[in-house]
Amino acid sequence: MDKLRITGGRPLEGEVRISGAKNAALPIMCAALLSAEPLRLSNVPRLMDVATMAKLLGQMGVEVRRDSPGEIFLQAKSIADPTAPYELVKTMRASVLVLGPLLARCGQARVSLPGGCAIGARPVDQHVKGLQAMGATIALEHGYMTARAERLRGARIVMDLVTVTGTENLMLAAALAEGTTMLENAAREPEVVDLARCLTAMGAKIEGAGSGTIRIDGVRSLSGAAFRVMPDRIETGTFLAAAATAGGKVRLTAVAPDSLDATLEKLREAGASIKTGKDEIAIEAAGRPAAVSVRTAPYPGFPTDMQAQFMALATVARGTAVITETIFENRMMHALELQRLGANITMQGTSAVVTGVDRLQGAKVMATDLRASGPTCALRPGW
Ligand code: EPU
Repeated sequence: MDKLRITGGRPLEGEVRISGAKNAALPIMCAALLSAEPLRLSNVPRLMDVATMAKLLGQMGVEVRRDSPGEIFLQAKSIADPTAPYELVKTMRASVLVLGPLLARCGQARVSLPGGCAIGARPVDQHVKGLQAMGATIALEHGYMTARAERLRGARIVMDLVTVTGTENLMLAAALAEGTTMLENAAREPEVVDLARCLTAMGAKIEGAGSGTIRIDGVRSLSGAAFRVMPDRIETGTFLAAAATAGGKVRLTAVAPDSLDATLEKLREAGASIKTGKDEIAIEAAGRPAAVSVRTAPYPGFPTDMQAQFMALATVARGTAVITETIFENRMMHALELQRLGANITMQGTSAVVTGVDRLQGAKVMATDLRASGPTCALRPGW
């Protein structure tokens, strides 16, 4: 098992170039399924999930090459096998993003149902409901969603709740459907907008991405494109939260400051001084941060992917903060790990009440999910 050994006790100083966004790169890679022509992506982060997506697309017959660092070439001249097997889907839930584009391009798809997840149940009923409204028949057979459609038809789809990959899956499918699709109660996350930009560069007709209503006028075919993936706003926010927690002076480059409003506001409330430029952010923080309460919400609200980082900040803040999770029902496991470092945290339903302490102590802890492992590493055990 991978281990990180961290010796704390010093402020953070330095400059970091932020990677491309994982949660934009994954759906954008799936856009390659919609065209027989090449999709050339740049600023793709070097991550296991990206490698898993490349493997999944490769197994379907898509040509996938990493040309140079950060650049991926994808070409789906034909799709030999429109299947996403359990072995890959269980390691990466975002694999379900192939369902919409496979149905749109091949008229069929066999995608494993993702199963359980550490942070919550995370069902995909909204993806399925939307595709059914577009004329697909979807059956559950031996743990797989077996989907068929002659040609998907545009439809008005009102989603029961705001879902990021659900919105993306349906947008991907609608790009090649016959007629107009209206997605209501759509996710407004910057990654949804980035996917829409890439699809538009491929010739799709999309309006309203970034708002709650997205209109997609289906086209017969899409072309290739060259596209640069947006910067990762959560990686950016994680470094900023680390600096605000441990103190110090950090400069982040290749970022998209506009995608981070809620996070920046909370960091300023915690006492950090933040300066933003066109594509950079500088943060300076001294002494203990002030306690700030956060409540997660779909974009433009405070991101669930930043919740753990702010709980870590609260453990050493002056005062008491209430951290409330509203998106995932089990995304508080880091609270128990932080308690092992000496944090003062009381759980109250979906909230953690955190009273800052002067000093944390180093201890062995477990990385409970991707976003929860960052802050535990950055924490400074003692002032
Ligand atoms: N939901 C349903 N039915 C659905 C879809 C979602 O009930 O059909 C529920 C989920 O269970 C959850 C809520 O809706 O309670 C929101 O989930 P959403 O679908 O928006 O999450 P996701 O698309 O599976 C993406 C990110 C997550 C991020 C969430 C929320 C990707 C690949 N993943 O997940 O990122 O936390 O949106 O912003 O884009 C991470 O990067 O560590 C991560 C978990």
